[in-house]
Amino acid sequence: MKELLQVLTPGEPDWLVATQLDPKRLPAHVAIIMDGNGRWARQRNYPRILGHKAGVNSVRKVVETCAQLGLEALTLYAFSVENWKRPRHEIEGLWRLLRFYLKRELPNLMRNDIQLVAIGRLESLPAGVQEELHSVMDQTACNRGMRLNLAINYGGRTELVDAVNTMLYNARLEGNLDSLEITEEGIAAHLYTAGVKDPDLLIRTSGELRVSNFLLWQIAYAELYVTETLWPDFNRTELLEAICEYQNRERRFGGLARTSTSSLDQPASFLLEEEALELPLA
Ligand code: FPP
Repeated sequence: MKELLQVLTPGEPDWLVATQLDPKRLPAHVAIIMDGNGRWARQRNYPRILGHKAGVNSVRKVVETCAQLGLEALTLYAFSVENWKRPRHEIEGLWRLLRFYLKRELPNLMRNDIQLVAIGRLESLPAGVQEELHSVMDQTACNRGMRLNLAINYGGRTELVDAVNTMLYNARLEGNLDSLEITEEGIAAHLYTAGVKDPDLLIRTSGELRVSNFLLWQIAYAELYVTETLWPDFNRTELLEAICEYQNRERRFGGLARTSTSSLDQPASFLLEEEALELPLA
C-alpha cells in the first residue's frame, strides 16, 4: 500500500480513492473476469483483436497496481475452455498477444517480485505458448511477492474434474482407493489454486451478471463487483474504487453481523419450547 501511495500524484483521482482505503483490510486475493474487449473494438470500428490488444494495457496496469498494494494474489481470466468456439484467427491473435505480453513483462514481473502461475489445461495450448509460459513460470518461481494466476484454457468445472481425477489416480497408485474419503480440504488441495487463499473480491467488467465457469469452488464467499466499464477502459482508479466498495461490504460467511447487539439476536431458549413454536408469528 505504501508503495502505491509513493507512485501516485496527490490530488489525482486514483490518489483520492487510494487514500480512502484501509491498508489493514485489503483483500488478500482479487480475481477478475476481463470482459468487453470485443465491444470496445466494435465501438471504434476496429477488428476485435485490437480490443484484446488494448486489454493487454489494462492487464499491465492492474497487475502493477495490485503488486504495489501488496496483495497476495491476483487471478485473471484470460482464456476459458469455452473460448475455443471463437474464430481461429481471433484465437491465434490471442496466443500472439499472450506471448508478446509474457516476453515484454518478464523484467517487470522480476522487478515487482511477482510469481506468475498459469492455471488451466495448459497441455492443450500450442507448443510455443506452453514453452513461453513454462519459461516465465520457471524464471519467476522464486519470487515471493504477489502471485499472479493467469487462467488459460481454464474452466471451473474442468478444474473440479481434474482435482477429483488426480485424487483417484493418487489413491490408486498408493493402493488406498477403498479408503479414499472426499473432503472439502482434499478437493481444495488438488485445485490448480492449491495453497492460495480463496478470492475475497471478484470483479467483472462490461456489465454481465454471470460467473462464466470461473473459479467456481473458490468464489463461494467472494464479494462480487460488476462494472459497466469495458476491460480496455478499466483503470487504476476503478480498481481502487472496487476495493473501496469491498471494504464497505460486511462479510458474514453465513454467520450474523458482528455488530448485532439486538436482544432479538440473543439466545432465547424458551422460544424453542413446544408451546412457543405454536405461537403465531404475527
Ligand atoms: C473477453 O472479451 C476477453 C477475452 C476472452 C480475452 C482476454 C484477453 C486479454 C485481456 C488480452 C490478453 C491477456 C493477457 C493476460 C496478456 P470479449 O472478447 O468476450 O469481449 P466482448 O464480450 O465485448 O465480445
